Amino acid sequence: MKELKKAIENRRTYYNISDKSPISDDQIKEIIDFAVLHVPSAFNSQSARVVLLLGDHHKKLWNIVKDVLKKLVPADNFPATEAKIDGAFAAGYGTVLFFEDQNVVEGLQNAFAAYSENFPVWSQHTSAMHQFAIWTMLEEAGLGASLQHYNPIIDEAVAKEWKISPKWKLIAQMPFGTPAGEPGSKEFQPLESRVSVFK
Ligand SMILES: Cc1cc2nc3c(=O)[nH]c(=O)nc-3n(C[C@H](O)[C@H](O)[C@H](O)COP(=O)(O)O)c2cc1C
Repeated sequence: MKELKKAIENRRTYYNISDKSPISDDQIKEIIDFAVLHVPSAFNSQSARVVLLLGDHHKKLWNIVKDVLKKLVPADNFPATEAKIDGAFAAGYGTVLFFEDQNVVEGLQNAFAAYSENFPVWSQHTSAMHQFAIWTMLEEAGLGASLQHYNPIIDEAVAKEWKISPKWKLIAQMPFGTPAGEPGSKEFQPLESRVSVFK
């Protein structure tokens, strides 16, 4: 319990990461396998899909992000955007892509019509649980990560590059690497206004 709490507390947003890893690629894959196997999902639907990008694939993703943003961001702002992507995300060792399989979500909507509106929401919750578990385990293994949302603007290019099913909805991107700096300071709002107990 103490170790679990420590791992949860130590999970932070690391923007300063290097392209090294203290663990092997197989061990990174094992973290992802473990999460996908054991993290719960709505109705045990197992709708989460995860893609691990390493090496040139990781670099390719962040080039895609830059290419897409270059067409959208005002030219004056683009150097700052590019510097952030190069420094905080592309600089890392790899990126985890989180998807949710809409075939599964639609299947549940058809099977349980009364909950139809809930399934897309629960699918997001399911993905978030996977994100948190993987983020925490990467941290515990000596890696630092952050959570990014360049979807939906990159969805098409990502699907094309890695031949992802059009039914897999991209939810988040998690670049990671060996921490090359401390996370920023973090303020905590009082628990009294956020937690209530009735007994
Ligand atoms: C649902 C969710 C969405 C987030 N989206 C982003 C994001 O798009 N870009 C980003 O840099 N950080 C994102 N974050 C990271 C938060 O800003 C960060 O977790 C928060 O400020 C607390 O800091 P910590 O992660 O160091 O504890 C997200 C976090 C959560 C939980």
